[in-house]
Amino acid sequence: MASGFDALVELVRGATFDDFLLRPQRSVIERRDPAIIDLSCRFSTNITLKRPLVSANMDTVTRAPMAIVQAEEGGIGIIDRGFRNGDIEPQVREVEKVKRMQHIIIRDPYAVSPETSLTEAAAVMKRMRAGTLVVVDGDRRLKGLLTERDVRFVDTREGLVSSRMTPVHQLIVGQGELSLDAAERVMVEKKVKKLPLVDAHGTLLGLITAKDIYRQERLPFATRDLHGRLRVGAAIGATGDYLERAAELVKAQVDAIVIDIAHGHSVVMTRAIEQFKKQFGNVELVAGNVATADGVRFLAERGVNAIKVGIGPGGGCTTRLTTSFGVPQLQALVECRQAAGENGVPLVADGGIKRHGAILEALLFGGDTVMLGSMFAGTEETPGDVVQKSVMLPDQQRSVKVPFKVLRGMASIQAIRDRLDVEDDEVMDLEALGAEGTEVSVPARGSVRPIIQDILKHLCSSVSYGGAKNLAELRTMFRDDPQRYLIKLSSSSKRESYER
Ligand code: XMP
Repeated sequence: MASGFDALVELVRGATFDDFLLRPQRSVIERRDPAIIDLSCRFSTNITLKRPLVSANMDTVTRAPMAIVQAEEGGIGIIDRGFRNGDIEPQVREVEKVKRMQHIIIRDPYAVSPETSLTEAAAVMKRMRAGTLVVVDGDRRLKGLLTERDVRFVDTREGLVSSRMTPVHQLIVGQGELSLDAAERVMVEKKVKKLPLVDAHGTLLGLITAKDIYRQERLPFATRDLHGRLRVGAAIGATGDYLERAAELVKAQVDAIVIDIAHGHSVVMTRAIEQFKKQFGNVELVAGNVATADGVRFLAERGVNAIKVGIGPGGGCTTRLTTSFGVPQLQALVECRQAAGENGVPLVADGGIKRHGAILEALLFGGDTVMLGSMFAGTEETPGDVVQKSVMLPDQQRSVKVPFKVLRGMASIQAIRDRLDVEDDEVMDLEALGAEGTEVSVPARGSVRPIIQDILKHLCSSVSYGGAKNLAELRTMFRDDPQRYLIKLSSSSKRESYER
């Protein structure tokens, strides 16, 4: 670690985000533009992100719609494990939705045979929301394409796919593995929107669509795997169905598994990681949560690829209230960073971020990325229904209906009840389970995308105020000489800074 960093340990004892301001430095940036300023970071040892944001694995925050936007904007979403024990398929489906969303080449496009009935083909299109089906024979040799237009206005009760498809000899087909540029050239020249690829024997290799090419170009910061698909993570527990769940998620090509338990520095975790490593060797593994140097060393020694740091700072979290255990989040981040080493295992700063500026603090004091829950709550992409609630307008003596969505801690009674699938009249017994989270209503708002973009703009402004050219440089400058930046606040300067 940079020598200056050691001084931080003393400075942050008992401290969290609102205890500090950062002293502005001479700016060296012309424009605070997220398209220009590099905000890239490590999510885990083998996954880098262009933007340091991770959406929390909470059942009121991250399912496929949230994970898709996060990855499109350069971060990553972690699908929660808030599904009932043994009920693995719904979580796998969420991962599949993300992995299917964008491809450079769709390796396994939805396919039917020429002998499939039109009724069935139309049903597949509807069920999978696919506008085009590839038609292949039993040896996967390309026979044609069937589009929505081919089955529109025809009586699908009669006839087979072969009667309506565009046969292969009338199609523009790419030979072999084409690069994206080459595919785009062919598609523009021949004016086609779909380009099936085949090998020398006519066997289907994949499908390229104009829509995917367009998306690829429109989203230059997106987090993608080697096949151009969006990346996504998924959480599992450390007991119960966790290994079976992991196996299915890995089959669905999840990019990282997160073993997520409230207290990650535990014997339960030792066993879980051991079993996981035995079965899944190279799969990218994130584990947590911990908040101490010992906790980080414990997980790092077991070879995890990233560690989630945060015990009790989260918005929906009552651990500290109910147990009096936890570590103020800035102190936790500094101690954990010091234990991990400057370029050691990546840390995800998880929880407690209520304002955009705190994201930068989390990234400077120790985090490689930040995990956000409440900051994304109530957006369109979060799971759950919008409920209209009456809210009293105090000065007008009348109430208005306001749309709300629910945000709940994963250890809240409500979340536990849903996971266990118990009836309402058993709630009293549930209270004996020792919940460590709350449920709150948050105003429903629009898409999460502008919120992410706003966060990124503010991060760029922070880089500018910090006198650096990019986030990595600011981090190095800060860690080399924290005293140059840090101003510890008095209670009145805290009020001046953060109370509005
Ligand atoms: P924010 O502050 O971004 O925090 O909403 C999100 C993180 O909070 C944690 N979390 C919980 N912690 N009891 C807890 O002790 C809970 O019920 C709970 N639910 C979520 C979690 O780490 C999440 O990423």
